[in-house]
Amino acid sequence: METPKKALITGITGQDGSYLAELLLQKGYEVHGIVRRSSQFNTGRIDHLYVDSHDPRARLFLHYGDLTDGSRLVTLLEKVQPAEVYNLAAQSHVRVSFDEPEFTGLSTGVGSTRLLEAIRMIGLECRYYQASSSEMFGATPPPQNEATPFWPRSPYGAAKVYAYWMTRNYREAYGMFATNGILFNHESPRRGETFVTRKISMAVANIVAGKQDYLYMGNLDAVRDWGYAKDYVEAMWMMLQADKAEDFVVATGTAYTVKDFLQFAFEHVNLDWEKYVRFDERYLRPTEVDSLIGDASKARDVLGWTPKVLPPELAKLMVDADMSTIDLRTKLPAQL
Ligand code: NAP
Ligand code: GDD
Repeated sequence: METPKKALITGITGQDGSYLAELLLQKGYEVHGIVRRSSQFNTGRIDHLYVDSHDPRARLFLHYGDLTDGSRLVTLLEKVQPAEVYNLAAQSHVRVSFDEPEFTGLSTGVGSTRLLEAIRMIGLECRYYQASSSEMFGATPPPQNEATPFWPRSPYGAAKVYAYWMTRNYREAYGMFATNGILFNHESPRRGETFVTRKISMAVANIVAGKQDYLYMGNLDAVRDWGYAKDYVEAMWMMLQADKAEDFVVATGTAYTVKDFLQFAFEHVNLDWEKYVRFDERYLRPTEVDSLIGDASKARDVLGWTPKVLPPELAKLMVDADMSTIDLRTKLPAQL
């Protein structure tokens, strides 16, 4: 029997990590994931994939680790010897990055350098994927593609720009197969509950169930290019199968405001969003990214990647998922 290809995923417990693990297992990989130790289990998104490691069928293995702990990254990479490394771990919330700029820099930015340097130090021959972000374009007007200059508008965006350039630097300086996927916003029923789309889909389900009266929101005029996370992890994998390491924008090219997304989600259950949405300045950011609309022509032409799910379909599938699990969940924490 052929030895399966090994992949290591940082951030495997997150939205993208869980879909990517699913995809790689389907493709026959042995998947290793780095999990942060917490006082409660934080593996809810991947529990359905886990088989006890004593079982000979097990192909998903979890290891404690943290991107702020460089020596652990060295020992893990040495032990696992992955052929592909997907660096998805990050403090990924833009609003939170204004409250925790230093930690965001250490995990989202310097964390990538620790991982790249660990790979270089042990001389591991692997392909490396860096989860770069459209947030790096910040205030640069759309449409944005691989040639668009960066103008980050948050500590998160600035940390991602640093990680982007470190990835390119390791490619150019050491000849590593290191690639940046510059992904625009992508959502799913597994999206963190304080990101805007999921906050909306959960609120719709809560309102229909009589568990919530109002939804408090910030800037409703921001324009985003929202895609489906499941489609986007396929692009990540495709980038590491390409002939050479390059950087790719992954986006749908569609443009909707937060208001539009509210309308799609509430209309799906025949409600008028304007009756339920209230403003709270707590959700504003000190600097906002007004408009992100991606041009993913390069990913289409070179990788053959195209998105399958677009808004308003995306909003509907998220609302449906939250409606179907409403009784299993508690309310959104009021302060987040
Ligand atoms: P997510 O749901 O917030 O997941 C983040 C993951 O990183 C979680 O597994 C988290 O672990 C882990 N993590 C955070 N800090 C860590 C640390 N110091 N050490 C090790 N692990 C750490 O994010 P996502 O939406 O899946 O996004 C995946 C990646 O793509 C992130 O880097 C994000 O910045 C980037 N990105 C996302 C989007 C998007 O629209 N979703 C777009 C562009 C780029 P816990 O579960 O323990 O918290
Ligand atoms: N989270 C949140 N909560 N956002 C709100 C709210 C609210 O109550 N009200 C309005 N918004 C607006 C934000 O100001 C922003 O303009 C937009 O909704 C989207 O916010 P988020 O869903 O938090 O996503 P983001 O665009 O800031 O960042 C996401 O996408 C990036 C890629 O562009 C994150 O996933 C980042 O990790 C990712 O890199």
